[in-house]
Amino acid sequence: MDFEPVKLGDMPRGSGRATFIRRLLTNPATAAPAELYDTKVFSPKFAAGKLVYVADAALIETIFVDRPDDFPKGSIDQRILRPIFNDGLLLAEGGDWRWKRRLTAPVFSPAAMKRFLPDIVAPFAATADAFLGASDRPADASDAMKSATLQVIDRLLFGGEREIDPDAIMTHVEDYLAPTPWMVAYALFGVPQGMPFPGHKRQSRARFAARDMLDRFVKKRRAGDRSSDDLTNRLLAASDPETGRGLSDDDMVDMLLTLQSAGHETSANALTWALYLLTRMPAVQERLAAEVDAVTAGEPITHDHMPRLVAVRAFIEETMRLYPPAPSLSRMARKAEALGGVAVEAGAAVLVPVHLIHRHPAYWERPDVFDLDRFMAPAAGRPARTVYMPFGAGPKICVGAQLAMTEMTAGLATLLQHVRFASSGEAEPRPLHRVTLRPAGRLMVIAEPRRGAPRPGFADPLPRVA
Ligand code: HEM
Repeated sequence: MDFEPVKLGDMPRGSGRATFIRRLLTNPATAAPAELYDTKVFSPKFAAGKLVYVADAALIETIFVDRPDDFPKGSIDQRILRPIFNDGLLLAEGGDWRWKRRLTAPVFSPAAMKRFLPDIVAPFAATADAFLGASDRPADASDAMKSATLQVIDRLLFGGEREIDPDAIMTHVEDYLAPTPWMVAYALFGVPQGMPFPGHKRQSRARFAARDMLDRFVKKRRAGDRSSDDLTNRLLAASDPETGRGLSDDDMVDMLLTLQSAGHETSANALTWALYLLTRMPAVQERLAAEVDAVTAGEPITHDHMPRLVAVRAFIEETMRLYPPAPSLSRMARKAEALGGVAVEAGAAVLVPVHLIHRHPAYWERPDVFDLDRFMAPAAGRPARTVYMPFGAGPKICVGAQLAMTEMTAGLATLLQHVRFASSGEAEPRPLHRVTLRPAGRLMVIAEPRRGAPRPGFADPLPRVA
């Protein structure tokens, strides 16, 4: 039977400025105007020329792939993220971005993913164990996924040796990002920099604390033992293949903070939505579990299993179509343009509502229905890169996409080896956009032992994971 999971909701046609601002402050992705279903490019009257929404795949191809230098990251990203992430890969532009990307990309190579797979699987085996230890009561899936992905990024980036407290960094970044909707609204309406908003003092304390922790860590690592094989040491040793230039301590702080933040919250939210969908579609869950059993015979996931986990991977992809972790991307038009016939001024904000494009009837059949077959060797081929774009598109596409797909596929497969997820009977979750797209509040699930499956026993490369 077709299953239609919960929707985010769009801003009704003809809405005015007050509705827009209210939505922007409470759940920004719901401010994408429903007119986009008719026109695909739309500039609300109250912000004509200054703000345009683009849901047209060909135009997104122009903006993201063909002419990225004419559409840099805009004032929204700069204003919200620059104070904390500075010139880490996410925000760097032009030549500065190019050399950092050249230097960073090899760190996420397929060979690196193979090397790090045991460190990806171990936290999920521990999470399966924790789920089963509490199988007599509802468990918080959002917390569990956040904790597993945080452990993964801690192991990969910092070696997992507790030289640095990843929970503390995460808390500082969360405190920093808490007032984001205010910053989005200020950026869109040109409110001068420095204007206070609720939570701004706490925000600047959090920013200082996060950067200070990482600065001390980088200096200690550079001066001390660099024998462990983790991404910090790989980045410290890396140099630009064209110029030989390496990362300074400040560059390292920018980069590590960017990778730690970009690298776990997104995957955690995608996996949380995946568990929600599994609890609502028991037959699909059994199909995935059968694939995992057939491929792995109950053994821990290895690099050789990965290409054969076809349905698990397709499930993750369909989950991110319905609930893209980055539901909205923004750029700035460097010069005056006519975008899809809509005139915008130089400096205008260009917003790409990925979540709306992922369910646009012009691009998808039965867009609100969950359909695993969309990504299982689809007869019509894969969707175009700007119709399905959970990782963005063009040169600034997510540098961690392969890591994320490996982590989510291997992580979900590991959970399914041991656990059957069932609904806790609570109300449907409400999608909430707070930088990433998450269920508002907690997503509770019942985790039952899968019949015949042993409790996860696993040769952990770092046996301290509880
Ligand atoms: C489900 C997981 C993930 C999703 C959905 C996701 C999504 C995205 C998107 C949409 C962008 C492009 C932003 C834009 O064009 O404005 C991006 C960029 C980026 N992501 Fe991810 N990401 C994920 C996981 C990761 C991981 C695991 C890492 C690293 C550990 C990472 C690091 C980055 C970085 C550094 C950039 C900036 C790349 C550049 O500008 O060159 N992401 N991500």
